[in-house]
Amino acid sequence: MAKSIEAIDLNCYYGDFLAVKDVNIKIAPRSVTAFIGPSGCGKTTFLRTLNRMHEVTPGARAEGQILLDDENINSSDVDPVRVRSTVGMVFQRPNPFPTMSIRENVLAGYQLNGIRLSKSESEAILERSLTGANLWNEVKDRLDRPGGGLSGGQQQRLCIARTIAIEPEVILMDEPASALDPISTLAIEDLIHELKEDYTVVIVTHNMQQAARVADKTAFFNLQAIGEPGMLIEYDDTTTIFNNPSNEQTEAYISGRFG
Ligand SMILES: Nc1ncnc2c1ncn2[C@@H]1O[C@H](COP(=O)(O)OP(=O)(O)O)[C@@H](O)[C@H]1O
Ligand SMILES: [Mg+2]
Repeated sequence: MAKSIEAIDLNCYYGDFLAVKDVNIKIAPRSVTAFIGPSGCGKTTFLRTLNRMHEVTPGARAEGQILLDDENINSSDVDPVRVRSTVGMVFQRPNPFPTMSIRENVLAGYQLNGIRLSKSESEAILERSLTGANLWNEVKDRLDRPGGGLSGGQQQRLCIARTIAIEPEVILMDEPASALDPISTLAIEDLIHELKEDYTVVIVTHNMQQAARVADKTAFFNLQAIGEPGMLIEYDDTTTIFNNPSNEQTEAYISGRFG
């Protein structure tokens, strides 16, 4: 488990519009990397290319290589469905299936892929995933109640449990705490710390304190003007990005002068 993920000369388009230009980045296994930058600089777009979700948008495509360890998963002969079970994704707003039970939500990835599990297999996956998402103790007595009945923070941890249930190598998270209260946000941040023992985690956040708290490495993206493509400006250890960045755009952004 936990692979490196690397983008080489990656360009992301919506039709003719080049939204993200020439990204080169290598993300180490079992680490947390934060993507930061002003709204519209392409953080979400780039993140979604890493598991072939970008191309689901009509007209959208990504050119370049995405290496998962040594395999280029951005190749047309690679099945995107398989990629998405290896590189899992957690979205900005918790999106459990509201009428499905907590149990069914966690096991949804198996059901969607047509994988039959024995009772003992599914119970083991359920407990492992909910424990891994720091949710087991809160829900173990109500596994058959609907996922929609949980609080927002619990729903987001349920979505993380659903993602880790299928044992991905990489977990992508797009502003996973932006819709949550401060206590739930801290619970998610604690969980991200634990997840990096087993997974390679990439998180988009607009909250620089959050990046500083959770990430080993930070990538700063920026765009020169509206309509221009977003680019990766600087990528380094989080402490360097926040204390001693090399690029003056990074310096201006982290000191709050724009964005
Ligand atoms: N579905 C889409 N169709 C066309 N353009 C889009 C779409 N989604 C995002 N964009 C554009 O791509 C650029 C990057 O957006 P996005 O990746 O959402 O940035 P961020 O997550 O950094 O705020 C923006 O110019 C945005 O308007
Ligand atoms: Mg975004």
